[in-house]
Amino acid sequence: MKDYSQYFKGPNLKEAKKRRGEDVHHIHDAFFIPQEMVNVGKGKKYYIHTYGCQANERDSETLSGILEMMAYQPTTEIKEADVILLNTCAIRENAEEKVFGKVGYVKNLKKKNPNLIFGLCGCMAQEEVVIQRILQKHPHIDLIFGTHNIHRLPELLKEAMFNKEMVVEVWSKEGDVIEDTPVTRASKHKAWVNIMYGCNKFCTYCIVPYTRGKERSRLMDDIIEEVNQLVKDGYQEVTLLGQNVNSYGKDLDDGSSFASLLEAVAKTGIPRIRFTTSHPWDFSKDMIHMIASYDNIMPAIHLPVQSGNDEVLKLMGRRYSREQYLELFHAIKEEIPDCTITTDIIVGFPNETEEQFEDTLSLYQECEYDLAYTFIYSPRAGTPAAKMADNVPLEEKEQRLYRLNEVVNEKALKQNQRFLNQEVEVLVDGPSKRDPQMLTGYTKHQKLINFKGNPDCIGKRVMVKVTEAKTWALKGEQIEQD
Ligand code: 5AD
Ligand code: SF4
Repeated sequence: MKDYSQYFKGPNLKEAKKRRGEDVHHIHDAFFIPQEMVNVGKGKKYYIHTYGCQANERDSETLSGILEMMAYQPTTEIKEADVILLNTCAIRENAEEKVFGKVGYVKNLKKKNPNLIFGLCGCMAQEEVVIQRILQKHPHIDLIFGTHNIHRLPELLKEAMFNKEMVVEVWSKEGDVIEDTPVTRASKHKAWVNIMYGCNKFCTYCIVPYTRGKERSRLMDDIIEEVNQLVKDGYQEVTLLGQNVNSYGKDLDDGSSFASLLEAVAKTGIPRIRFTTSHPWDFSKDMIHMIASYDNIMPAIHLPVQSGNDEVLKLMGRRYSREQYLELFHAIKEEIPDCTITTDIIVGFPNETEEQFEDTLSLYQECEYDLAYTFIYSPRAGTPAAKMADNVPLEEKEQRLYRLNEVVNEKALKQNQRFLNQEVEVLVDGPSKRDPQMLTGYTKHQKLINFKGNPDCIGKRVMVKVTEAKTWALKGEQIEQD
């Protein structure tokens, strides 16, 4: 078998930390389609399954854009696809197991259609343990490429088509910021806009700094040009994306910061601006001020806390104490009084005691978040936390997750109730999946709302009267406009 070891490296904290000082280039002409691939997809279909976070959703839009430039058509029916791509997530073990389940399923499809091209990309492709497992157990995969190699899809596809061996291209070292790749956006009224890639925080449990590489900001001009185009195309909302958007600009040396970017995006006139994710450590006062100052920056902030206990936070490498987090939390609530705040929490970090877990519960009681994404800690090979001995049994962790979720649900209901009988602006996404007679969308405060309304309003912002508040959503009725 071919030796693929040159293509990848597993997570290595020492190596990864060295990368900070290295230059990043912003490249506008890296993407191209080889002549013989221009029409290769004519009459053929592609299927992409996206796992994980918004960064992956946005990457899949680039993959779609590239494939459509080669004349492929999208399909939601995996069985009729000529190209299948799994855009994977590595954040927790269960995310990876789901992908391996699908890999097994595609094996059968390939038996029926030997010309089918099957590719795996995204964060799992950046992990050495995953590549080893694929090489040993899943040789039916034609193509593996990493998060830094997306723009090379036309060439990689070409190799996979004309080559009998598995094509693996995973650059372990992140390179540059690649501009001007095609995009087919999933929505006609809401858009993801990358503002930076990678993460330099190195929280001890997290695989992301290794799979997505070091922090690299896009240039402000490139971001604003993209948003201006979206405004022209009638988009109503952008979500600025980065693993830690607060770090925006720190690597650029041109004086730009996330606060200044927020202001520039607000001035484009796009009706709604959201952003995710923020790290509490470098959430500046300027940012709070900017959010409070512009009506088109939505009052909804995702502020992952992970734990309410100082020792656990320290072991997680989070760079803030409970007290510092609470200070920031209250400063936000003070300057943006009705602001929605959501969070992420990990329970069962190695050796977490009952008392330490109770600190998380008490912090939750104090913050009364609008919503939380809660997880049981999942060791990720190569990260510092994965080397820590752990004396907490899984059943105990499951119990803690259950206890935490009880509080999460109680507070979610309470926070939704604050909108009861109010008139709220809703950006209408489409018919509700559960009840096609109803429409669904999000309020400025990022509340999901199902309501009776006019289907002509899909993609528009309308006013809705809230008639009912449930744990997971609001219900309402559209207010007729004269
Ligand atoms: N185990 C469990 N949860 C994790 N997260 C990140 N890494 C892990 C892990 N190893 C959670 C964090 C993060 C969210 C995106 O996923 O809460 O904020
Ligand atoms: Fe992971 Fe921490 Fe970076 Fe978030 S900030 S992506 S949790 S390392």
